[in-house]
Amino acid sequence: MKPVEVNSLRKSYGNLKAVDGISFTVNEGEVFGLLGPNGAGKTTTIEILEGLRKKDEGTAKVLGFDPWQKGYELHRKIGVIPQDFTFFEKQTPREGIKYYADLFNVKIDPDEILKEVLLEDSAKNLFENLSGGQKQKMGLALSLVNSPDLLFLDEPTTGLDPNARRAIWEVIRGLKAKGKTIILTTHYLDEAQQLSDRVAIMDHGRIVAMGTSDEIIEKHGSGERLQIHGSEKLADYIRANTELKVEYSNGVISIPLKQKIDALAALAAAEQSKMDWGEIQTRRDSLDDVFVRLVSGTMDEHGEITGKSVHDKSSNQRRQ
Ligand SMILES: Nc1ncnc2c1ncn2[C@@H]1O[C@H](COP(=O)(O)OP(=O)(O)OP(=O)(O)O)[C@@H](O)[C@H]1O
Ligand SMILES: [Mg+2]
Repeated sequence: MKPVEVNSLRKSYGNLKAVDGISFTVNEGEVFGLLGPNGAGKTTTIEILEGLRKKDEGTAKVLGFDPWQKGYELHRKIGVIPQDFTFFEKQTPREGIKYYADLFNVKIDPDEILKEVLLEDSAKNLFENLSGGQKQKMGLALSLVNSPDLLFLDEPTTGLDPNARRAIWEVIRGLKAKGKTIILTTHYLDEAQQLSDRVAIMDHGRIVAMGTSDEIIEKHGSGERLQIHGSEKLADYIRANTELKVEYSNGVISIPLKQKIDALAALAAAEQSKMDWGEIQTRRDSLDDVFVRLVSGTMDEHGEITGKSVHDKSSNQRRQ
């Protein structure tokens, strides 16, 4: 049995298909990234898995439980940070941890958890005075109180500065090293790529690609290609003197490589032409390239994805 098994899961709000027949599994000890633009259905999916929303159709098994039928049992075994996590303003991280420990009826050392989430220095500061990154760390701390093996982190780094994001990454890596299974939603491609063993890209309630970053790039991206900075005339020459497919755009000649040796043939032809050519490089699509092609949203200059049209709602306002 895998910690998470999802099959043909569906959830609609009126006519809107928020989750439209998705299937995936998460392996033990894995960090699984759910990536997608605003309104893709990430939160709906994980809240169904947490037993907080009721599915319409399909099956979901989390740690062997039906999350809706067995919510009580499940909640004792999972850790959750909801999107837009917040807490009592006048409580400190240490007090919050103790409060959760009472709720779960467990005996734990708050300092150990504070250390695990790199929050020792702010243990006695009021929640309202914590920075965004420290608040998220407190969310992580609370999610660890019941020693869960499975964690759901819904956008743990949205809105944080680059250093604060990296600090959260460090905590997540530490949790992974301890063998925890983690489902993480994010808008950040680099974050998904850095932290996740596998990624599912969601759009309009569907999974449009799934696998390791390399697998997704392999399947949905274009393969390796040689790029030569040169003239259109040179592109014509290489085309005429080899069997290769040769494209030209804005001073760059681009040649898809079926095999590595194709690069040699292209360069030999370029040399033979006696024409000038500049820099050469080989390149393949990044996860960003593939993402932009697969998803209807657009990405801003920070690499954050913002969806469009009817799917924009409160979460967009929140990020402004
Ligand atoms: N309780 C609700 N009632 C009606 N529509 C909802 C409800 N919750 C979510 N939706 C809609 O369902 C769709 C999926 O929302 P969801 O919050 O799951 O997306 P998301 O991928 O988590 O987006 P974000 O990145 O903005 O957090 C959106 O179009 C949203 O407006
Ligand atoms: Mg969400």
